[in-house]
Amino acid sequence: MNERDSEAVAALLRARGYRLVPDEDECDILLLNTCSIRDLAEQKALGKAGHLQARKRRQPRFILGILGCMAQNRGAALLDQLPDVDLIVGTQKFHQVPGYLDNLRAAREAGVPLGATIVDTAAEAGSQNEIRDHVLAERPVTAFVSIQQGCNMDCTFCIVPKVRGDERSRPMDAIVAESRALAERGVREITLLGQIVTSYGRRDYAHTGGRTPFVQLLERLHEIDGLARLRFTSPHPRGFKHDLVEAYGRLPKLGDYVHLPLQSGSNRILRAMNRPYTRERYLEIVDALRRVRPEMHFSTDIIVGFPGETEEDFAQTRELFATVNYDMAYIFKYSVRSGTAAAAMAGQVPEEVKEERNQILLRLLEQNSRRRNQALVGTVQEVLIEGPDRKGLRFLGRTRGNRTVHFAADEKLIGTLAPVRIERATTAVLYGELVPAGVES
Ligand code: 5AD
Repeated sequence: MNERDSEAVAALLRARGYRLVPDEDECDILLLNTCSIRDLAEQKALGKAGHLQARKRRQPRFILGILGCMAQNRGAALLDQLPDVDLIVGTQKFHQVPGYLDNLRAAREAGVPLGATIVDTAAEAGSQNEIRDHVLAERPVTAFVSIQQGCNMDCTFCIVPKVRGDERSRPMDAIVAESRALAERGVREITLLGQIVTSYGRRDYAHTGGRTPFVQLLERLHEIDGLARLRFTSPHPRGFKHDLVEAYGRLPKLGDYVHLPLQSGSNRILRAMNRPYTRERYLEIVDALRRVRPEMHFSTDIIVGFPGETEEDFAQTRELFATVNYDMAYIFKYSVRSGTAAAAMAGQVPEEVKEERNQILLRLLEQNSRRRNQALVGTVQEVLIEGPDRKGLRFLGRTRGNRTVHFAADEKLIGTLAPVRIERATTAVLYGELVPAGVES
């Protein structure tokens, strides 16, 4: 989501005549988009910003801005630590950045002394409609499309509702138009983005034919010619009702992959987290999806060391983690976020215990991912070819199950769906060979 927000700002700046440079050392203006989800993210951003501030001494016209969640969370208080920052812009004001930069530059040119920082962290109605412009590669294959801002859930560990505001959805027509335009530019896969995508449009559109607005949106996007794959992140388990599970049965462009945040496998902890489902319900969803799509791959988010998490609670998480047989997982140590309900809870777990539980799940994940990847060796997978890999030696693409595959290919095949025979697997990636016959043109 942050990448997408940054991209939208970059597109607006480019439209105003600014140029994106590949190397931060070359720039005259540097905007840091920041995350607040865990303390570590904020500390990293603060460290980076502190370092960059020093550059103002060498380069007096250098402009430094802090955008996004940390800007929203801390506002003008950031100036205590970072007095030389020029711009602090919150999560509903990304689109105002070009105007603010114009103002800053005009002030500089008029000789206004340094120190007049622009701070804007206000709420803005309709800001969800502003994340819509793209900076596309020469041959874009995948793109993110933002469908919603904010979050109305009240997970006790989470700072997002505070920094991203109330849940607001974009109009379905605007999302469809944007996706169609991307497809016309050659994009083959879009990933819909939102805090809780499954809640999309629930206050703006009726359920028709027993289908949520989110499923209706998927149906409309599915019809776009040129789009081969449709993904989304993140859904909430609560949103996986019958209509969405059933959609996987009739919408083949939905890949064989779901990111389904679990957070904890203990019902007691789920309750304390204010997550409105049980481990049993979660497993039901996984089973239902595997019934519709036997090849379904799952990833998840887990928090270890939530306040009050006992060995028994953690054992439940571990057990469920193994049962679901995840292909991928993001495992986090609980991080105290001030202003959230969990920050004030009794039973905060010591750092060493969090670390130990983190390591246990990471090891389990490694075994699972390797085993799941190994099982693909010898099979032929449909791969969407994205482009050269980082070293430029091979090409890379992803399977319907969202596993990355490296293989030798030809430039001409970028953006096509091609059968690739999997020959070798590690924990994180697959290596394979293109099966020449049947390559889609
Ligand atoms: N501490 C650790 N992880 C967190 N997440 C959200 N808040 C916290 C926190 N306070 C994790 C959740 C969420 C993911 C995006 O970040 O697992 O799904």
